[in-house]
Amino acid sequence: MAGKVAIVSGGTGAIGTEICRHLAPLSSCVVALCRPKAPDCNNSSEWVAERKKEGYTMAVMECDVSDFENTASVLESIEDQYGPVDILVNAAGITRDATLRKMAPEDWQTVLRTNLDGVFNTTRCVIGGMMDRGHGRIINISSVNGQKGQFGQANYAASKAGMHGFTMAVAREAARKGVTVNTVSPGYIESPMIMAVPEEHRKKILAEIPVGRFGNPSEVASLVAYLASDRGGFITGADISINGGQYI
Ligand code: CAA
Repeated sequence: MAGKVAIVSGGTGAIGTEICRHLAPLSSCVVALCRPKAPDCNNSSEWVAERKKEGYTMAVMECDVSDFENTASVLESIEDQYGPVDILVNAAGITRDATLRKMAPEDWQTVLRTNLDGVFNTTRCVIGGMMDRGHGRIINISSVNGQKGQFGQANYAASKAGMHGFTMAVAREAARKGVTVNTVSPGYIESPMIMAVPEEHRKKILAEIPVGRFGNPSEVASLVAYLASDRGGFITGADISINGGQYI
C-alpha cells in the first residue's frame, strides 16, 4: 500500500490520532484534518512534533468539514501536495447533548452539519477520483448511539444513524469501481468526549456494558486499519459494531 495518501477528519482527537497511527503502515502519507479553533487544533504543530517523536511523519491541515467550499479547497491542496487520496476516514464528530424539549435549534444544526454534512463534504470531494482510479477505502465513524438511540442525543443519534444510510448508498454506487465504504460504530471509548458525560450518567452507562469496561481507541483503530487494508476488500456497506456488547 506504499504511495497511498490517507486522510482522517477529526484526526487530532483521541480516536482520530490512534487511527492515524494505525494507518501509517498502509500509507505514504497520513494527513489529519482538524477543525479551525478546536482546542487540539491550536496545537497542531505540537501534534505533528509528538507524532514525529513516535517515529511517524504526519501532517495536519485545518479544515471545517461542515463547510463544503472550505473542505473542497483543503482537499484540493492536499492532493496537489501529497497526491490522490486513497483512504478517507470520517472521524470528525461533536456532541451537544440535551433532551429534545430543551435542545436549541443551533444544537441540532451544529451537530448535523459537522457529523453528517461533514461526511458528505469530504466524501463528495474524493469519491470521483477514487472511482476513476479503481481503488479507495472510505470508513465512517458512527456510534452505538446511532444504532440504539441515546437519552439526550436526538441530534447526535440522528447524525450517526444518517451516516450509515449514506454509507450503504455510496457503497452500492462505488463497489464496481474498487471502492469500499463502511461504517464503524464504536460504543463508549475512553476519550475526552466520554469524560465530558457527567459521572453519574457515565457510571450507569458502564453498568450497561457486558464486558465491564469502556473501549480503548486502539481497538477501534485496528478495525479501521483492517477495513482500509487490501484484506478488507470484500467488506462494503457494513456497519461494524465495536461496543463491548452494549448493543446486541
Ligand atoms: N434515562 C432515563 N432517564 C433519564 C436519563 C437516562 N439516561 N438521564 C436523565 N434522565 C431523567 C432524569 O432522571 C430526570 O427525570 P425527572 O424529570 O423525572 O426527575 C430527567 O430525565 C431530566 O431531564 P432533563 O431534560 O432535565 O435532563 P438533564 O438536563 O438533567 O440532562 C443530559 C440531560 C445532559 C442529556 C444527561 O442525561 C446526560 O448527560 N446524559 C448522557 C448522554 C450521553 O450518554 N452522551 C454520550 C456522549 S459520548 C458520545 O456520544 C460518544 C459515543 O458515540 C458513544
